[in-house]
Amino acid sequence: MRLSNKVALITGSGSGMGRASAILFAHEGAKVSVVDINDKTGQETVNLVKGKGGEAIFIRADVSKATDVENMIKKTVDTYGKLDILFNNAGIPMSFTPIEEVEEDLWDRTFAINVKSIFLACKYAVPIMKKQGGGIIINTASIIGVRPRPGLNAYLASKGAAIQLTKGLAIELAPHKIRVNCINPVATDTPMFPYFIDDSGAKDAKYEAARERFIAGIPLGRLAKAEAGAYAALFFASDESSFITGVGLDVDGGRAI
Ligand SMILES: NC(=O)c1ccc[n+]([C@@H]2O[C@H](COP(=O)([O-])OP(=O)(O)OC[C@H]3O[C@@H](n4cnc5c(N)ncnc54)[C@H](O)[C@@H]3O)[C@@H](O)[C@H]2O)c1
Repeated sequence: MRLSNKVALITGSGSGMGRASAILFAHEGAKVSVVDINDKTGQETVNLVKGKGGEAIFIRADVSKATDVENMIKKTVDTYGKLDILFNNAGIPMSFTPIEEVEEDLWDRTFAINVKSIFLACKYAVPIMKKQGGGIIINTASIIGVRPRPGLNAYLASKGAAIQLTKGLAIELAPHKIRVNCINPVATDTPMFPYFIDDSGAKDAKYEAARERFIAGIPLGRLAKAEAGAYAALFFASDESSFITGVGLDVDGGRAI
């Protein structure tokens, strides 16, 4: 097993790539803190992990709130005695919106949940990792933070920030043997995906047409699966990537070429 005796905290693991990662990391031997703002789906992930013989607890947290983030780190360490892997995966999308119609609140919320969350989690996890003599931090950015699409500027700017923050953290924390990397998924077939097309999340004719346009921009000719992100994160979480830090791994079917 690739994560034997490791403790991993995964935000946004009530759904999509976070859930796939919780199941995969537990399968590889990690004890997992499943963190989400949604109690029901978070608990479902714990049940899925336990149903496959793994170990997990659910911790409710809004990753944009300092008190919640401090608590999720504390509860993990109180329960499992340490924190080896912090996977900042929670995020929110936005639907295609011309820049002049983007509400200030949407911009602020997007940055709070997609970027400030990484800062907050590091603020509370890094002292523990420094004391432990090392650790691993993984962030979920996006290929849109590398190669933009029109109409998604709040979201793509937040993901560009996550990529640069990954590099800044990597250089700052390398002396403490804390590696920091990010994954850059392309459009992925998770519950989030329809919300890039319309705020309703409806899977109607507009959705089908937009989905085809997304796929047309992906050389491998399909959306990513949640497991693709999970396997990329597993590589960063394991010792196989022990000499890799500050890297953004494009899980993008060739989109960035
Ligand atoms: N789906 C895509 O096309 C795609 C592409 C590139 C990157 N991403 C990124 O991948 C990550 C995972 O997305 P996904 O596709 O699995 O989406 P998802 O919607 O299936 O899962 C996201 C999870 O994050 C949780 N969440 C949202 N806000 C939160 C908050 N404030 N605090 C705690 N939890 C919160 C949600 O409840 C949900 O369970 C996100 O960062 C997303 O931006 C997604």
